[in-house]
Amino acid sequence: MAVRPIVTYGDPVLRQLSEPVSEVNQAVKDLVSDMVDTVKKAQGLGLAAVQIGVLKRVFIVDLSAVDITANLTVFINPEIVETRGQVELEEGCLSFPGIYQKCTRPAIVHVRALDLNGRPFEMTVDGLAARAILHEYDHLEGKLFIDYISPIARTLLKGRLKKLAAAS
Ligand code: NI
Repeated sequence: MAVRPIVTYGDPVLRQLSEPVSEVNQAVKDLVSDMVDTVKKAQGLGLAAVQIGVLKRVFIVDLSAVDITANLTVFINPEIVETRGQVELEEGCLSFPGIYQKCTRPAIVHVRALDLNGRPFEMTVDGLAARAILHEYDHLEGKLFIDYISPIARTLLKGRLKKLAAAS
C-alpha cells in the first residue's frame, strides 16, 4: 500500500497507550499493509502501529533481514502470557535512528495474539524473536527501549537524545 513516515523520539505519541482493535477489518489490514511496506523500506526487524502514528494494539516482527527462514508475523491485541529468564542484548528502534544500546529483558516469551484473519494464535520463542516481541509490545504500552538502559548509558546518550527530540 504505502510507506508511511516513522515517528521518532521526542514525539509525545510514542508515550501514549495504544487501544485494542475491536475487529480485524479492512482498515486494520490496510494499516498492517502500510506497516509491512514501512518496515521493509526501513530494513527494521519490527514496527508497532504507534510508530506510524496509529494508536492501535498492532505490531509486526520481521526477522527476515537477519534470518532468511524467518516469516513476517503480525500480532493484533497481543498479550504477554509468560516470560522466563533474563538476557542482555543490543537493541535498536526505528524511532531512534542510529542508536543501539544493551538492554536486559526476559529471554523467553509466551505470547498470544490475533492474526490478520482475526484468529487467535500463541507462540513461545527465545532469542532475537523474543527480544523483538517484547520491544514491540512495549511500544503499545508507551514504553521505549531507552527505559531499560543503565543510568551511565543514559547520561552518555543525553546529547544524542536531545538532538533527536529537537528534530522530531
Ligand atoms: Ni522500537
